[in-house]
Amino acid sequence: MQRNKRGNMPAKLPSPEALETLRNGILSGRDPLKTGITVCAGTGCQAYGARDVFEALVEEVKNQGLADRIEVKATGCHGFCEKGVIVVTSPDEVAYVKVKHEDVPEVVSAVAGRRIVERLLYSDPSTGKKIAKESDIPFYKNQTRIVFGNNKRIDPKNIDDYIALGGYSALAKALSRMKPEEVLEEVKRANLRGRGGGGFPTGRKWEETRNAPGSIKYVVVNCDEGDPGAYMDRSLMEGNPHSVLEGLVIGAYAVGSHQGFFYVRQEYPLACENLNLAIEQAKEYGLLGENILGSGFNFAVKVHRGAGAFVSGESSALMSAIEGKAGEPRMKYVHTAVSGIKGRPSILNNVETWATVPLIIEKGAEWFRSIGTDGSKGTKIFSLVGKVNNTGLVEVPMGMTLRQVIYDVGGGIPGGKKFKGVQTGGPSGGIIPEKHLDTPIDFDALTRLGSMMGSGGMVVMDEDTCMVDVARYFIDFLCSESCGKCIPCREGLRLLRKVLTDICHGDGKPGDIELIEEVAEVMADASLCALGTTAANPVLTTLKYFRDEYEAHLKEKRCPARSCKALTSYYIDPARCSACLICLRNCPAGAVNGAKGEIHWINQEKCTRCGVCFDVCPSRFSAVVKISGEPLPPPPPPGTMVSRKKEA
Ligand SMILES: Cc1cc2nc3c(=O)[nH]c(=O)nc-3n(C[C@H](O)[C@H](O)[C@H](O)COP(=O)(O)O)c2cc1C
Ligand code: FES
Repeated sequence: MQRNKRGNMPAKLPSPEALETLRNGILSGRDPLKTGITVCAGTGCQAYGARDVFEALVEEVKNQGLADRIEVKATGCHGFCEKGVIVVTSPDEVAYVKVKHEDVPEVVSAVAGRRIVERLLYSDPSTGKKIAKESDIPFYKNQTRIVFGNNKRIDPKNIDDYIALGGYSALAKALSRMKPEEVLEEVKRANLRGRGGGGFPTGRKWEETRNAPGSIKYVVVNCDEGDPGAYMDRSLMEGNPHSVLEGLVIGAYAVGSHQGFFYVRQEYPLACENLNLAIEQAKEYGLLGENILGSGFNFAVKVHRGAGAFVSGESSALMSAIEGKAGEPRMKYVHTAVSGIKGRPSILNNVETWATVPLIIEKGAEWFRSIGTDGSKGTKIFSLVGKVNNTGLVEVPMGMTLRQVIYDVGGGIPGGKKFKGVQTGGPSGGIIPEKHLDTPIDFDALTRLGSMMGSGGMVVMDEDTCMVDVARYFIDFLCSESCGKCIPCREGLRLLRKVLTDICHGDGKPGDIELIEEVAEVMADASLCALGTTAANPVLTTLKYFRDEYEAHLKEKRCPARSCKALTSYYIDPARCSACLICLRNCPAGAVNGAKGEIHWINQEKCTRCGVCFDVCPSRFSAVVKISGEPLPPPPPPGTMVSRKKEA
């Protein structure tokens, strides 16, 4: 058999059967009796020291003379990043969380002796019970990971790992058994909708490009991912780049493209490193380049590093950036699917959309359609962040309710606080209140609520979040990110930012709400691109669902969440103060007065409302109180002493 540079693979793989033989070869090169220790080496875990833990594990396994029994492997992100560094053993799937360098000898000895290190297991915050098996942890148990699942199984730097788990068999199937039109039909029948924003049907977009005149066509991966708090595309690119690449080659084959681009934001160095390696390995294996898998189909890809502007994720802006121009949108009289990069038909899809394609080709449209709702098939990966116990990446079937995601997967709201709203769809999305928590997640259902699916950001907010301030935050973000080319977006955002900032500062005026609504309408009607047309969504949804908060700010100069600095004051409740001196010592403005044994009080002239006194006051006293819209009680007479009973 012909061998390539690596010496372990045939250069051309003509059919799925040959790929199966190859897979068996790869698998037979691995000892199934070996115990595995996988370390998450995603960016989140790397920030907690995953590289260090990985190297220590390799060293320790060697030192304990276990190299012939234990294999250590670095994988992509497992999704539960806040618990990093995550270490999982196989085949028994014991998950260790928050692992540190110094825990390594104990972990290795335990794996060798088939024991469990109890103290490193995940502890369920609601029951306090330790859970050993990764898939039994509620965060994972309630997910359906069809796209993201292999992230924790494979070493993204090793193509053999991907192939061993079935990778590239969809490409082999498409190239050897399906005509391009059949691939296209399968994607259309699956009713796959784009995961990057609007949920546009992928098959329809591909068909438009396929039918567009011209022999040169492009396919593009959108890994710009500019939504604040979103990182699912980065984690897929870092942890399973071959799945995206395989989807891209299949798409190229379906529409007759021979050149593809990965547009990856500059701030994603690990994604770029793993992607470039994946491209090189795929070329070596005959899965990219000339005559792929002996099929006669040629396809090449380039990686384009984006400059990290949110607006560059928009299709026409992204394509301009690929052409070497400024990443700014243009009017789309003609779809980019027909006239995109250099005026050629160009398909742009999101990372997750491309990664879903091999699954559809491999398992069939019917299988894909069996997951999800009528209008939204398959699963969606969300970046679940904010005021929720389990933050991380979650993949759930379409149709799961927001409540299930936040409470069953996310473990609910921390600190016994009340849920207030959930932002979906990033800055162009909206904030959904409690009364709609039982809405099934689906492109159309979220749009009906005034929000959108977007690319998968899901930010949970509790009772301490001010909805006017949240709207101001997103408008401020978009104002900085607008390219400024069209007046409705540029000036509309500036005006909205000013009005919202005034309201948060207590300087709102009668008529402000009406002004916001008018500006929002003009922006939606007249902006050049979807940044401007959707920009007012966070304001409009907060006005729709939390109008009373706007009115409280405007009419009573009160922030009901006691969050807006200018409208909130702090005072010390004399009945609860124990004169412990903690707030006095921590106040950076020297605004707290008192002495040992003497009831403390805040000098409002000096107070900067930073909230440090509130944060440091021990919960057994809870003496510092936040108030808004009410008169401040007078301070106690100077020198008032706390009662001895309270002091004790
Ligand atoms: C301002 C703006 C930013 C966008 N950013 C992204 C992004 O970061 N990633 C993405 O996939 N789509 C983004 N989109 C949507 C893209 O324009 C495009 O619709 C999408 O990449 C198509 O892929 P899909 O059909 O697979 O969803 C953005 C759109 C706008 C208007
Ligand atoms: S980076 Fe390790 S779980 Fe996400």
